Amino acid sequence: MKMTRLVLLFLSLSLVFIADSEFQFASYYGDYMVLQKEPSKALIWGYGDVGANITVSIFKGLETITKKAVQINENPGIWKVLLDPMHDSGPYRLVAKQYYKEKVQSITLQDILFGDVWLCSGQSNMEMTVSQIFNASKELAEAAHYPHVRLFAAALTASQTELRDLAKVDLQWSLPTAENLGNGDFTYFSAVCWLFGRYLSDTLKYPIGLVASTWGGTPVEAWSSKRSLEKCGLSENVKTNIERSPFPELVAGPCDYSVLWNAMIHPLLNMTIKGAIWYQGEQNTNLNTDLYNCTFPALIEDWRKSFYDGTEGQTERYFPFGFVQLSTYQKKQQNDMFPVIRWHQTADYGFAPNAKMINTFMAVAMDLCDEESPYGSIHPRDKQNVAYRLLLGARAVAYGDPNIAFQGPFPNRMIVVDTGSYINITYNQKLLTTHLSDNIYEVFCNSKMNEDKEDVFDWIPAVITSASSNLVTVSFKGCQNVTGIRYAWVDWPCEYKQCPFYSIDGILPAPPFVKYFTN
Ligand SMILES: *[C@@H]1O[C@H](CO)[C@@H](O)[C@H](O)[C@H]1NC(C)=O
Ligand SMILES: *[C@@H]1O[C@H](CO)[C@@H](O)[C@H](O)[C@H]1NC(C)=O
Ligand SMILES: *[C@@H]1O[C@H](CO)[C@@H](O)[C@H](O)[C@H]1NC(C)=O
Ligand SMILES: *[C@@H]1O[C@H](CO)[C@@H](O)[C@H](O)[C@H]1NC(C)=O
Ligand SMILES: *[C@@H]1O[C@H](CO)[C@@H](O)[C@H](O)[C@H]1NC(C)=O
Ligand SMILES: *[C@@H]1O[C@H](CO)[C@@H](O)[C@H](O)[C@H]1NC(C)=O
Repeated sequence: MKMTRLVLLFLSLSLVFIADSEFQFASYYGDYMVLQKEPSKALIWGYGDVGANITVSIFKGLETITKKAVQINENPGIWKVLLDPMHDSGPYRLVAKQYYKEKVQSITLQDILFGDVWLCSGQSNMEMTVSQIFNASKELAEAAHYPHVRLFAAALTASQTELRDLAKVDLQWSLPTAENLGNGDFTYFSAVCWLFGRYLSDTLKYPIGLVASTWGGTPVEAWSSKRSLEKCGLSENVKTNIERSPFPELVAGPCDYSVLWNAMIHPLLNMTIKGAIWYQGEQNTNLNTDLYNCTFPALIEDWRKSFYDGTEGQTERYFPFGFVQLSTYQKKQQNDMFPVIRWHQTADYGFAPNAKMINTFMAVAMDLCDEESPYGSIHPRDKQNVAYRLLLGARAVAYGDPNIAFQGPFPNRMIVVDTGSYINITYNQKLLTTHLSDNIYEVFCNSKMNEDKEDVFDWIPAVITSASSNLVTVSFKGCQNVTGIRYAWVDWPCEYKQCPFYSIDGILPAPPFVKYFTN
């Protein structure tokens, strides 16, 4: 008897509790958040009662800056408003009110800023926290000087269906502190994301919101929608067979198709964002490697279309998308999967942006190796240079600064001279030549030999015989018929910051390339 009453009491209490809590913001709206500034309109959404009227107001002190009203007229009870484009950073207070059956409920977000919101995603190299990188204590100590860079981290969740909202949040919108930036290994907050945002804030001088949604040991397929995988001939129902990561240092995360798209990206589609950065690819050296030149560009296109639709056109249709080209793993190369993924990350162009990946930018990282990393060599600790190279790309591509160099030297002309003994390579910019190493170029030899010699059908080393201004000459021996050339086509092409060629300011390495001659 007593028992039953207790249960009933509990039931009715929880019913009341559910009814009362129905009017609320979606999971990723909280105090301290940064909303996307002008020219876009920020989208705010949440839950309420069907039939209710909702108002959303922005206050500066007691002054109402803007007010929007909307009615919830269908199930499920979800409301959304688009704010007016906001120019000033704030801080503001955002108040949502629900008018329903004589009852008024009010929920408030304090200390809201308007600025640029960037999404950061990928696998463990994006997940690595500030406490895991070089100069960690210095970086953590400086965090408090950036109260206008705000952080949010989605929790690790996977789902077989597309979720409307995040099931869990690891870090609600927060000011940066040594505590929340240095919280353990591979947890939150992402060092690359943080540094990128901090550098951006130094440049732009207005608030930056950083949304981290990352999971270590995950392939591109997990972050891709069904639609986007189908474009590359991957059927939705295939479960991947990766149980353990190919890398001893990497714990594999969920690898099934679309499960992280469903749980960690799809819910975010209703947040107006400025752009995204991405550091992923290691896991695909072991899964659908040859398809990455399709799956990655398809992911970019699908995320763009989806954020555009999810925010009613307020997120730019071709929003800027930056990515990190794979760094290094093993000095003694086991296979050429790292170079292949690096190449496929550019849709086989070698540089970004390109015709298949417009409005993208790339941070080359093959020269930032770290053999001694306590997290395994696959997790290099220099994330400062990674983030700085991303910053240069963002300044040029996302913010349209024409004076920013953001791409390393890339060849635009190659001439095979003397019917095959040397090749002159003309780069698109002057080279800073510091550490010339042998064999970083190779040529493809395709020779039918005389009867007494064996045929050659393979890559053979080529030697740099001269390099000045923007011209490099490489020579090779013992091949009558050279039909291709490649540069830095190994997992670990050089020691730390000692690749042969950089932009003249020494910052941007010449990226790897492969080129087959077609005549
Ligand atoms: C909602 O607003 C409409 C028009 O402004 C009004 O007619 C209606 O009574 C309101 N409903 C509630 C529940 O306040
Ligand atoms: C992707 O690369 C593979 C080789 O790895 C090639 O066969 C294929 O044609 C390329 N696909 C695209 C879309 O470029
Ligand atoms: C969120 O975006 C999805 C996908 O475009 C859309 O179906 C849904 O209606 C949006 N929800 C809100 C509250 O805007
Ligand atoms: C770490 O700090 C030292 C001293 O300020 C600096 O020279 C070095 O470049 C920093 N390393 C990275 C990766 O930023
Ligand atoms: C190739 O470059 C060398 C300098 O390394 C130059 O002497 C030679 O004239 C060039 N040949 C052609 C055909 O451009
Ligand atoms: C060189 O290789 C190409 C590509 O296989 C072939 O078409 C051509 O006949 C070869 N030329 C000679 C001289 O062997």
